Amino acid sequence: MHKISVTAELNYEVHIGADWRPYVEAIFATHQKVLIIAPAFIASSAELHLLVESPHHHLLVTPEGEAQKDYATAEKVWNFLGEMDFGRTDAIIAIGGGATTDLAGFVAATWLRGIAWYAVPTTLAGMVDAAIGGKTAINTGSGKNLVGSFYSPQSVCADMRWLETLSDRDFAAGLAEVIKTGYIRDLSILTLLDSVDSIAMVREHALDLVAKSVAVKAIVVSSDFKEGKLREILNFGHTFGHAIEKKSGYALRHGEAVSIGLHFAAILSESELGFSSSDTEHLAKLLEKFGLPTVLLKNEYQWSELLALMTGDKKSRDGRIRFIGLRAPGEPDWIEAASNETLTATYEKILL
Ligand code: GLY
Repeated sequence: MHKISVTAELNYEVHIGADWRPYVEAIFATHQKVLIIAPAFIASSAELHLLVESPHHHLLVTPEGEAQKDYATAEKVWNFLGEMDFGRTDAIIAIGGGATTDLAGFVAATWLRGIAWYAVPTTLAGMVDAAIGGKTAINTGSGKNLVGSFYSPQSVCADMRWLETLSDRDFAAGLAEVIKTGYIRDLSILTLLDSVDSIAMVREHALDLVAKSVAVKAIVVSSDFKEGKLREILNFGHTFGHAIEKKSGYALRHGEAVSIGLHFAAILSESELGFSSSDTEHLAKLLEKFGLPTVLLKNEYQWSELLALMTGDKKSRDGRIRFIGLRAPGEPDWIEAASNETLTATYEKILL
């Protein structure tokens, strides 16, 4: 078991490798009323039903995936909290992937101007990224995560057994965030992943990889909670990745879109930051080894559409698209003035 502290508007701990059941029971003992938010396959689990016995403990089922991060679902949860008369000392627990923790955190941030919430991430992406750091949000027609709040959970419990419920595809999608973390800060993550050949082998190192990734995220978030500057390094691969994700209509997993975004950002780093082409090749091979996409089919995504989405992204400033790139593995830097020609040429290099 690892315990990693995060310092934000409150100090909290991420319990890695802990059992989620006693964790939930301890929350029940701390708050009078608790609402658990979870997608159907988790909400229907017998283990969860055994825990939720008291009339003060409620379970609300959300839609699967990114679809739950919308206004209608948030409103449904707010209405439920209203009907059940949830007060300032009551709490919400999110049990699910990143979409569930983003939604639950956002609802907790806005109900009565903020009630306690706890995260039990069940996906690799949730454990290493979404549930850590207090970014909460829902999506709107204009884009991903445009309505939200920085609002930390009281604590996070990452129980590795949830990862057994993930398909290899979903596990690999989370691995894209792990690989991102290796490239921006912890090269030992890359060494470990270089030494294994399959998702099955990576699964054996899940505890170590989650602990390493959370440790990096905790340091970054603790020094720049509201993303003044440093926290932006966590967005490596995300500027292009978010545009691809949105354009795919969320058919691609977040991590799959980020994987293509990492490759794009690495190629862009060659011309803008002197990143070596052999390092780009290594990054692409590492992603591909775990079945992650790194290229786009010609005509699948039009450059003009992706450019428009990136310009509208919250990471852009004054219409200028900003990227996180790399000078070398472990040395992230900002790319703020790439010309249209350079961006177009980079896009063309990732076309199959
Ligand atoms: N997912 C990037 C961040 O939490 O800042």
